[in-house]
Amino acid sequence: MSSCNHPDIESIVLSEDAIKEIVARMGAKISEDYKDKNPLIITVLRGAFVFTADLVRAITVPCSVDFMAVSSYGDGVKSTGVVRIVKDLDTRIEGRHVVIAEDILDSGLTLSYLIEMLEARHPASIEVAAFSVKDIPDKRPAIEPRYVGVHVPNEFIVGYGLDYAERYRNLPYVGILKPEVYS
Ligand code: PRP
Repeated sequence: MSSCNHPDIESIVLSEDAIKEIVARMGAKISEDYKDKNPLIITVLRGAFVFTADLVRAITVPCSVDFMAVSSYGDGVKSTGVVRIVKDLDTRIEGRHVVIAEDILDSGLTLSYLIEMLEARHPASIEVAAFSVKDIPDKRPAIEPRYVGVHVPNEFIVGYGLDYAERYRNLPYVGILKPEVYS
């Protein structure tokens, strides 16, 4: 971890260069696995938009992109994962190979619920490409992503799409937020 000049960031967890390497590796693997499959890359707004923009440019085979937005029922999303579709896909996914691009996997409950909803539409396959997965001792996420970029510490991290109160998504690196910012 290195320090940085942003007044709200305690330290950098993933530099821009580290992120580039991770995404290039993921894009190369997806390109290899989805040759001739024309995958549909789905972004779940909002956090994953930055990662998706980089990921699709690292994919060298034909693919398309679509977007979804979900929101929790009440305030229970973190504990139950029960979500409501706020913006649905514009694409029919029946028979398509789908890859959900996710910025961070924590409990995995949001995605496990979403996958169940999407499976009812009979895609040819659904896989998850998670840029980062939180390392929480003795806790495994509810789903196992096929593609994992990096494991990150169980800290309050922001940047590269991740926010705190809608701020910091635009930071080009991932950093740990200083506790005094959110406490
Ligand atoms: C974050 C992230 C994932 C979800 C992960 O989204 O983008 O979708 O939380 O948590 P889970 O694995 O415990 O379900 P958030 O709800 O913060 O919305 P955002 O993408 O708009 O920032």
